[in-house]
Amino acid sequence: MKIMVIGGGGREHAIVKAIKKNPAVETIYCLPGNGGIAADAVCVDIGAKDIAAQVEFAKANSIDYAVVAPDDPLALGAVDALTAAGIPCFGPDAKAAVIESSKVFAKDLMKKYGIPTAEYEVFTALDEALAFVDSHDAPLVIKADGLALGKGVIIAETKDEAKEAVRSMMEDKIFGESGSQIVIEKFLTGPEVSVLSFTDGETVCPMVSSMDHKRALDGDEGLNTGGMGTIAPNPYYTAEIAERCMKEIFLPTIRAMKAEGRPFKGCLYFGLMLTPKGPKVIEYNCRFGDPETQVVLPLLESDLLTIMQAVTAGKLAETPVQFSEKSACCVVMASAGYPQSYEKGFEITAGEEAAAHTYIAGAKLADGKLLTSGGRVLGVTATADTLADAVKEAYRLVGETHFKNAYYRKDIGKRALAAQEV
Ligand code: AMP
Ligand code: GLY
Repeated sequence: MKIMVIGGGGREHAIVKAIKKNPAVETIYCLPGNGGIAADAVCVDIGAKDIAAQVEFAKANSIDYAVVAPDDPLALGAVDALTAAGIPCFGPDAKAAVIESSKVFAKDLMKKYGIPTAEYEVFTALDEALAFVDSHDAPLVIKADGLALGKGVIIAETKDEAKEAVRSMMEDKIFGESGSQIVIEKFLTGPEVSVLSFTDGETVCPMVSSMDHKRALDGDEGLNTGGMGTIAPNPYYTAEIAERCMKEIFLPTIRAMKAEGRPFKGCLYFGLMLTPKGPKVIEYNCRFGDPETQVVLPLLESDLLTIMQAVTAGKLAETPVQFSEKSACCVVMASAGYPQSYEKGFEITAGEEAAAHTYIAGAKLADGKLLTSGGRVLGVTATADTLADAVKEAYRLVGETHFKNAYYRKDIGKRALAAQEV
């Protein structure tokens, strides 16, 4: 079989490596991929948003199955276009991807179907949004409606900060047109859990839970990033909470999307907060998380491609989805300065063992050398019988991976390990 994976980060590298395990796979093409993914797939210089070129490529190369991984092409209708061209693929169509690309859609869906989430109001007029801030207590959470590279959320500790956030989105358009419509919601507290799930629109099959570390610095300080590391499973997510989430959140969401005429097929990511009043949805993503995928897929014992094809065929209920009882830890190594400005072009070297556990996010090949080319450069994932051992092993392998100006958090998994002890 010939497989095409759209995207080019650490998540896509993890997907490529997992698909490669299927013996029926002859070639995997990754569009555009990156210098590290090139070790496992044929990288093709077609951008993740260039849907017309993706369809052309798929037809010209007799692609048997495609996986659309990032949010942008999903929202732009890559799955619709590929499906119309006769290429079976994994991912929601544009109608269903709106669950991520419009926060207003997601919030209204949850309200309509009684799915627990933070209380909120939607605003399209600046003066009304400011008046709302005046009449409510801080902290408040201000969210731009559309996709904003994961940055469209501002947590305002005071009313003044909230007003500034509202103005920056609606007046100064710091997130572009995404800020024409905003959501203001109540600030919730509690541990966060990411649950990725496979769903064919009828059946929902949660994967092992995980925990992201979004802030740049140790102790969850500093700026928000795309994610500096992950662990799985998340110790806060007990069997009892999992059961509650299935009943109160996962199944109701799948049924709601179907009832709205937007059946969701693909990977639906539930960003949850375990509040004192129970689990609530912080966000939906219409795709695999990055870097959650880098700890979840290494724990998947069943064949990924088989599951994906079952999702496309609407046969998930008949397909085994088995995860290992082990734990995993992924430590992201970034270019110093990320998520702000940073230098790139430094050679990456690693021992064979470390390289085998590495998912490359931002690197290019030049004269046979792998050079850093992005903020998040790579993620090193280790699995072990216990979380403590997985963390230790991931850091040991990080110690064998080198590039100039490398920066990584030293405390990935620390909070989870502390939670295990109580
Ligand atoms: P999102 O892009 O919606 O995931 O938001 C980014 C981060 O902001 C989340 O991972 C949470 O840490 C935080 N956040 C979002 N909404 C809320 C909320 N209502 N209360 C507290 N924290 C929130
Ligand atoms: N790690 C969060 C995300 O993929 O959106």
